[in-house]
Amino acid sequence: LFMRQVSGLDMLEHQLKEQLQIEHVIVVSGDSDEAEEVKTELGKAAVTYLKQVLKQQSTIAVTGGSTMAAVADAMTPLNQNMECLFVPARGGLGEQVENQANTICVEMAKKAKGSYRLLYVPDPLSEESYHSIIEEPSVREVLHYIRHADIVIHGIGDALTMAERRKTPADEMKKIKNGNAVGEAFGYYFDKNGNMVHKVRTVGLQMEDVKQAERVIAVAGGKSKADAIQSYFNQGYSNVLITDEAAAMELLR
Ligand code: BG6
Repeated sequence: LFMRQVSGLDMLEHQLKEQLQIEHVIVVSGDSDEAEEVKTELGKAAVTYLKQVLKQQSTIAVTGGSTMAAVADAMTPLNQNMECLFVPARGGLGEQVENQANTICVEMAKKAKGSYRLLYVPDPLSEESYHSIIEEPSVREVLHYIRHADIVIHGIGDALTMAERRKTPADEMKKIKNGNAVGEAFGYYFDKNGNMVHKVRTVGLQMEDVKQAERVIAVAGGKSKADAIQSYFNQGYSNVLITDEAAAMELLR
């Protein structure tokens, strides 16, 4: 508690809340670009917050990424009567297995002692496959849960870092670069004003669903993500940000 007051994290939270015009901001100390422990702290802060807002039988949609992996790592059992359901937000998005939403969803659900449903769909998808796959009964059922999630918890990435990490095909890469994308979240790429310049075609949560969720929690830290975070919040898709001191200071500059 003493540390918090001295470091002025409360002040950063307050200023950031004003700047981004959102409901709630949590800032942990340090820079997750520099130290892995800071990502661990982001994970713990996200779990603490999530537990405060979860209701009985909440459905929680989670994305992939190393930050969400830290959230899953930090998860602890929920009360038995909570009966929460965890689902992957938008499939694998071309990420490596450890970064995929399915992987993280299972771990989070197991640690929370909740249940989970997964999406077994290859992605990204061609236009044709997309339309036939979403009609598959087993996919439709999981999609229903995903699209009606009460809570969405997701990472935010630097656009080019994410596009490269996902081995994005050349034509899409061009679109992302020509559109001057700076931020990325769940397969959507945004320019600095928050306009969507590209979306990965995949099943799962679409932007309309995100807007309808009761609470959308972004977890992203590190000085290098400041522009990405700002770009994403310029359209106000999420109402909570859990970040670190370095990203917060850079955002407020
Ligand atoms: C992806 C999410 O898996 O991870 C994105 O779908 C997010 O929403 C990205 O931008 C962030 O990854 P990391 O490793 O920086 O937490």
